[in-house]
Amino acid sequence: MTESLQSGLLVEAFDAQLFRENAETVLSRLEKHVADLSIRGLELTDPARLRRAARALMTTERDRPAPFDEERLAAIVDLYIKTGIQVHSPGYMGRQFSGVVPLAGVIDFVSSVVNQPSSFYEAGQLPNVVERIMADELNRFIGWDPGTFAMITTSGGSLANLTALLAARNRAFPGVWARGSSELEGPARPAIAVGDDVHYSVARAAGILGIGEDRIVRLPLDAARRIDVARARPVLDAAERQGLNVFCLVASAGTTSVGAFDQLDELAVIARERDLWLHVDGAHGASLLVSDKLRPKLRGIDQVDSLAWDAHKMLFVPAPCTLLFYRDAKASLGAFRQTASYVFDEQQNIYTALDSGDKNFECTKRPMIMTLWTLWAIYGQALFAEKIEYLCQLTQDAYALVEKQPDFETVHVPEANIMCFRYRPDWLEEKDVAAFQVAIRDRIKGGGNFFISKVDVDGVAALRVVMMNHQVTTEHFQMLLGEIRKAGQEK
Ligand SMILES: Cc1ncc(COP(=O)(O)O)c(C=O)c1O
Repeated sequence: MTESLQSGLLVEAFDAQLFRENAETVLSRLEKHVADLSIRGLELTDPARLRRAARALMTTERDRPAPFDEERLAAIVDLYIKTGIQVHSPGYMGRQFSGVVPLAGVIDFVSSVVNQPSSFYEAGQLPNVVERIMADELNRFIGWDPGTFAMITTSGGSLANLTALLAARNRAFPGVWARGSSELEGPARPAIAVGDDVHYSVARAAGILGIGEDRIVRLPLDAARRIDVARARPVLDAAERQGLNVFCLVASAGTTSVGAFDQLDELAVIARERDLWLHVDGAHGASLLVSDKLRPKLRGIDQVDSLAWDAHKMLFVPAPCTLLFYRDAKASLGAFRQTASYVFDEQQNIYTALDSGDKNFECTKRPMIMTLWTLWAIYGQALFAEKIEYLCQLTQDAYALVEKQPDFETVHVPEANIMCFRYRPDWLEEKDVAAFQVAIRDRIKGGGNFFISKVDVDGVAALRVVMMNHQVTTEHFQMLLGEIRKAGQEK
């Protein structure tokens, strides 16, 4: 009898009543976590200590599992919450992932329990339908004709960049998919042009795609750290003379380092002149499109070939949730070319027409759109626009504050919610400036009140804040400046 193989364990692990109790245990802790707006940075735990703490929470009864231990569950959740960056805290100014809108977490919980992977309509019906709805909703801010463009979701901006560049490469070199990278060896070697501050995932994609990281043509930046349009043409001409066949230009809408926005309308002209695929890495900054006030920063977005847009950054939903748009719907089929009879039917019907498995890398894919769509369904554009506008204004105000401090220097005018600056007290020697910023960042992190990051700007380290929480005010930023001064005095 197969039933004899079952102990009470399976009954317990799948019991609905116990599930509810577990959820309540977790919920009460998460409620406290979300309500806790104390100023907290990062408390880095020694990994060996954390490993011991995690081990101590594991059942020791290997053969016969112990009865369910609610306290053990509570302790696991407590440890999980405690050891992460406190992304909801006003002290969190360090990275681009956000303290999520809590409702999005609730919907993600639903997604985890109902488990509807969304590359295929039959597995995730609502996710696939609302993906199309969100594509139309967000395209209102891009401006393509309904029915002519495509949008898929994918697991992160890095994968979206890779997927778009794959589509671009396959358009330029149609033989590579079937016959491999020998097809890339011709008199002119394939290359990608990027702004010098481009995210590392683009260089990584060039390595993966057989183009090679060394074949990246780095375009110089202007004073605002955007691609310098006037200097781009001569650099592209020189690349051609050196035997490179640049087939794709990658622009950034919100660079990782300083949040700069390339001039898409001007770059689109260059792309058209040279028949380049224009991809926009908008992982960070595409979300500014939802604000009527800030949308002009992406002027020309309607002329690009593809756009990567992380909703898990500036649309405040759990990671990952990335949207990859293609101006031409047909181009979305260009990244992958596959037959697999167990999932892809030759004849589409009304259901399989919504499948995205042929367009995204993942086979099993999280129904990530559900969080974004639910927030959009309930709050509409306004929630996002209000939060983004606040964060960008806060960053402007923080910039104005830094400008007024004689012992600090700004290194760029912030365009969005990222700002880099340096602490340079008058006793600091020029040769020590970079190392000092790194030391300050480490001390601030160790101090436990604020979490900030560091980035090299023009080869010299700078402090970096990313404003992701609307609970952060200029007073908090002023406190941070005070902590930086204090940290600077530590030996
Ligand atoms: C401009 C830019 N592109 C791409 C990425 C990578 O996105 P993800 O972390 O979602 O893979 C980032 C992440 O910080 C980014 O800032």
